[in-house]
Amino acid sequence: MHSDPLTRRAILALAAGATLAVAFAGSAWAQAPSQPARIGIIGAGNIGGTLGGLWARAGHQVMLSSRHPEDLKSLVEGLGPNARAGTPAEAIAFGDVVLVAVPYKAYPQIALDHGAALKGKIVIDAGNATQARDGEVYGEVQAGGIAAVSAKYLAGARIVRAFNAANYKLFAKNAHREGGRMAIPLAGDDPKAVAEVSKLVTDAGFDPVVVGPLATADSFAMGSPGFGLELTAPDLRARFGVTP
Ligand SMILES: NC(=O)c1ccc[n+]([C@@H]2O[C@H](COP(=O)([O-])OP(=O)(O)OC[C@H]3O[C@@H](n4cnc5c(N)ncnc54)[C@H](OP(=O)(O)O)[C@@H]3O)[C@@H](O)[C@H]2O)c1
Repeated sequence: MHSDPLTRRAILALAAGATLAVAFAGSAWAQAPSQPARIGIIGAGNIGGTLGGLWARAGHQVMLSSRHPEDLKSLVEGLGPNARAGTPAEAIAFGDVVLVAVPYKAYPQIALDHGAALKGKIVIDAGNATQARDGEVYGEVQAGGIAAVSAKYLAGARIVRAFNAANYKLFAKNAHREGGRMAIPLAGDDPKAVAEVSKLVTDAGFDPVVVGPLATADSFAMGSPGFGLELTAPDLRARFGVTP
């Protein structure tokens, strides 16, 4: 059964809000980071909504965006005073850091619409390519690897691939978990960008594990053995053979 786009967006927004409401219920980890960041989020679905909520809860300022920002009112209201809604262009202008959380098939359009504005920005690239959803771009990823294809469509941005390697429900469930935080693999070529994103991974409630330069992101792409792991940082480092 297919729902119309508006209904679907409303369902997505509610689903993300509901997931976070469960994750936040009774939690004591709302905190003020030493330096609140401004995070612009392109895409306000499962991933954008979940991570936006975690960062807002941690005291960062977030702007969630979609091509239909008017539909995001209830989502951002549910995420509290640190969250607001805008267009993708507004989110890019707002963010010191920009999270790209749109279906991978939208990357060529993002490049056309926002490529110039993204140049020089720290961009967290959470996208995955799937055959069922992403058509031609999926073929490109199969041929060249997702790190190279992201570098093509996000050319000039300071790309860090992160938060792509598990389902959003695992992020909502495991954020700030007790007894050994869930580790998030990251890869990027710009050391300062990697360091900034590592801090945001920590503030979202996870431990960052830097796997290596951007090209190493293929080792935790969807469908790879590094995907879907809920390990602690020491265990994830051992899995990837990296040292702290
Ligand atoms: N779902 C997961 O568990 C998960 C986990 C890891 C990584 N990922 C990856 O993260 C990305 C997002 O997944 P999702 O599940 O969060 O998707 P989603 O729930 O379908 O949300 C996608 C968002 O992108 C926006 N969007 C779509 N096309 C756009 C365009 N051309 N320009 C600007 N915004 C656009 C949509 O809003 P409008 O249509 O209103 O513009 C919507 O807010 C995908 O690449 C996915 O593979 C997903």
